[in-house]
Amino acid sequence: MLILAIETSCDETAVAITEDGRRVLADVVRSQADMHALYGGVVPELASRNHVATIGALAQMAIDKAGIGKKDIDAVAVTYAPGLIGALLVGVNFAKGLAMALDVPLIPVHHIRGHIAANYIAYPELEPPFAAMIVSGGNSLIADVRSYTDIRLLGTTRDDAAGECFDKIARVLGLPYPGGKPLDDLAQGGDDTAFPLPRAKIEGHPYDTSFSGLKTAVVNIVHNAQQRDEELDLKSLAASFTAAVSDTLVPRIMAAAQELGYDKIAVAGGVAANSRIRADLVRAAEQAGKTLYLPPLSLCGDNAAMIGCQAYYEYLAGVRADMTLNARATLDIHENGW
Ligand code: KG4
Repeated sequence: MLILAIETSCDETAVAITEDGRRVLADVVRSQADMHALYGGVVPELASRNHVATIGALAQMAIDKAGIGKKDIDAVAVTYAPGLIGALLVGVNFAKGLAMALDVPLIPVHHIRGHIAANYIAYPELEPPFAAMIVSGGNSLIADVRSYTDIRLLGTTRDDAAGECFDKIARVLGLPYPGGKPLDDLAQGGDDTAFPLPRAKIEGHPYDTSFSGLKTAVVNIVHNAQQRDEELDLKSLAASFTAAVSDTLVPRIMAAAQELGYDKIAVAGGVAANSRIRADLVRAAEQAGKTLYLPPLSLCGDNAAMIGCQAYYEYLAGVRADMTLNARATLDIHENGW
C-alpha cells in the first residue's frame, strides 16, 4: 500500500511516500529553521505562509523521487494534531484536496504517534508493546505503547518541553536557533558538575516533568554573571544543564518500562539527538537489561516518513477521515480528534 504522507505541524514542510508502513520510497523535508533563526524562534504566521509556498512542489518532488505516478497512491496521510494551528491547517487542507482529487482514503495522524513510528522505520523488528519517550521542541512525554494504535500517556511536562528549554537556554548563551545542537556541541568537554542545577520532581506523578525551574536557574546564573561582569565557563554550564535534563528524563523512562514490565524502550523526537542523553540512555538500558531503540538523527526530527508509517497502522485499524477533518493545536495521544 502506497501512502503519500504530509507533515506541517511546525517549521518543517515534509512529504514522504511509504510502502506498507515501514518502507520509505521518498522522504523530502524542507526546514524553515534559517528563516525563523532571524527572529530567535518559530514565527507561526511565517511558518504557515512558507508551508503554503512549498507544499505543492515538495509533494511533486516526493512523487518523482519515489518513481511513482499520482495514480499509484492508495491513500493520503496527514499530521492533524498537535502543533501550530495555522501550520497544521496548511497540511490538512492540502491533504484533503489531494485525497479528494485522487479519490483515495484520507488518514489523520497524531504527530507524536508519528514520532514513535520513526522507530518502526529504523528497526524493522520492533513491535509493540514497549515504553516510549518522546522529547521534541513542543513535547516531552512518556507513553505506554500497547499496540500500534493503542497508546496511553503516562506522564508529560507541566510547563516547557525539553527541546523548548534547550532552545531558550541556547538563546541566553548566545547560540543560534534552533539551539539544541549548538548547545550539545558546546557542552562537549565541559564539567557537568560545575553548576548545581535543580532536577524537578512532581509529588505523586512520577512520570511528569517540569523544566521551568531548571530554565530559570540557568538564566539567573547567566544574568548574575553579566551584572557582575564575570566570565562564565559556558562549556561547563551547557554540560551541567544537559546533565540536569538527562537526569530528569532517563530515570523516568527506565522506571516506566520497569513498572509496565516491558523489555523494550523506544525514544524519539529532536531532543533524542542529544549526545549526552543518548549515552545516558544506552548505559541505563544496558544496566537494566532492556533493549533500547533510538532512531538515527535523520529520523529524530520532524519528517513525513514517520507519519506515513504510523498512517499505515492507523489504516489497518480502520482509521479514516472525511472532508470535515480539522486541525487540532492540542490533542492527547490516545484521543481521536477527527
Ligand atoms: O522533533 P523536532 O524536530 O520538532 C518538534 O516536533 O518539536 O525537535 C526539535 C527540537 C528543538 O528544540 C531542537 O533544539 C532540539 O529538538 N534538538 C536538540 C538536539 N538536536 C535538536 N536538543 C538537544 N540536543 C540536540 N543535539
